[in-house]
Amino acid sequence: MTYENVLSNTQNGITTITINRPTKLNALNKATIEELHKAFDTANKDAETKVIVITGNGEKAFVAGADISEFANFDVANGGKLAAKGQALLFDFVENLETPVIAAINGFALGGGLELAMAAHFRIASDTAKMGLPEVSLGVIPGYGGTQRLPQLIGKGRAMEMVMTAGMIDANTAKDYGLVNHVVPQEELLPLAEKIASKIMRNSSVAIGKAIKAINANYKDGVNGFETEIEQFGACFGTADFKEGTTAFLEKRKAEFPGK
Ligand code: COA
Repeated sequence: MTYENVLSNTQNGITTITINRPTKLNALNKATIEELHKAFDTANKDAETKVIVITGNGEKAFVAGADISEFANFDVANGGKLAAKGQALLFDFVENLETPVIAAINGFALGGGLELAMAAHFRIASDTAKMGLPEVSLGVIPGYGGTQRLPQLIGKGRAMEMVMTAGMIDANTAKDYGLVNHVVPQEELLPLAEKIASKIMRNSSVAIGKAIKAINANYKDGVNGFETEIEQFGACFGTADFKEGTTAFLEKRKAEFPGK
């Protein structure tokens, strides 16, 4: 499928989705959010895709935020709708995918950009990356899950400071905070994503999807994560991947997971 603002390329089990509006620092306008939804949905349904990597085109930005020019004259009702639609189409959608999503932060990840990276299952960054939630400097607050996911990832006090100051942190500070898992020079960012993806791909994709669901359950209101874990654990015993994984171990050979 071809898109106007997004590139999607599948190779060796990895679908790399690249946000492609470099002249606007990959800012998320409505069209890009809709295209990203389609690209993630397509990759998640594709049996060949075992891991999804999301990154930004160019050396400067992952995503410099929601497209400010699109919402500058919104009223209260439209503001609420913007956040609700974006969360459903992209941010919650990505967080709940069964296919692992790695955000490769290659530059500025601000506002909606950092929120997208935080919706991914984990993050790696180039040493040039800068991250922040600058919304209060525009008279608004993060609306794509940032007030919820940032404290989950780095703790309430640090999140409060980042949001209130509207400041940016560099990649090494983000690593100290636990916001990103690894920091590497820019040219090593996608190779590192591929290296991690290839380790993930050796394992059962079905079990990984269930593990994502169980881990996410810890952060959902009204859901008991331990009960979700029990359900998902039990469900694994009915899968072909479980049969293959345990049989291969007992036969002292490498598992060839059917992904079912
Ligand atoms: N929405 C819309 N357009 C954006 C954008 C955004 N969030 N971020 C950058 N752009 C556009 C700029 O308007 C500019 O477009 P133009 O060349 O047509 O004028 C282009 O991208 C390049 O950005 P520019 O500001 O010239 O680059 P810079 O290197 O001087 O500054 C940033 C980089 C990231 C510091 C700056 O672009 C910025 O502060 N962006 C907004 C960040 C933000 O507040 N995001 C949260 C939104 S809720």
